[in-house]
Amino acid sequence: METTLVLIKPGGVQRNLIGEITRRIEARNLKVVGLKLVNAKRETVEEHYGEHRGKGFFEDVVNYLCSGPVVAMAVQGVNATKAIRTMMGATNPLEATPGTVRGDLALTIDDNLTHSSSDPEAAERELKLWFPEGTVA
Ligand code: CDP
Ligand code: MG
Repeated sequence: METTLVLIKPGGVQRNLIGEITRRIEARNLKVVGLKLVNAKRETVEEHYGEHRGKGFFEDVVNYLCSGPVVAMAVQGVNATKAIRTMMGATNPLEATPGTVRGDLALTIDDNLTHSSSDPEAAERELKLWFPEGTVA
């Protein structure tokens, strides 16, 4: 059993896709064990995307994550990290397979709707960052 982090980025919240994205996660038989709508602090987002510091898109993606409320979700299940990454699809929605969240609902890389942890180690780190109070399971 694994717990992993999903963020619904500001564009997804603004487009009223909280329900649609959460529905897909629950339909996959993954369990939501943490859920909140937050205006993320800049320092949280910069730490979250720390691996990308110095890259050309770093400032843009940090600004984007701070541009409106995001949903932070802790999701639990067998191989949850891999299952979620596959469901969300390729980073660039143009390359994301139909049937994935990005392949069905997004069009551009700067507005690709969700974040999901890349591996279980990243998940552990990111869950501590977004859910310092812990999750329900
Ligand atoms: O989100 P994911 O793990 O699939 O991709 P990433 O390579 O870790 O990049 C993090 C985020 O930065 C992406 O989801 C995009 O929102 C953004 N990004 C971008 O705007 N332009 C790029 N060339 C690469 C990433
Ligand atoms: Mg990533």
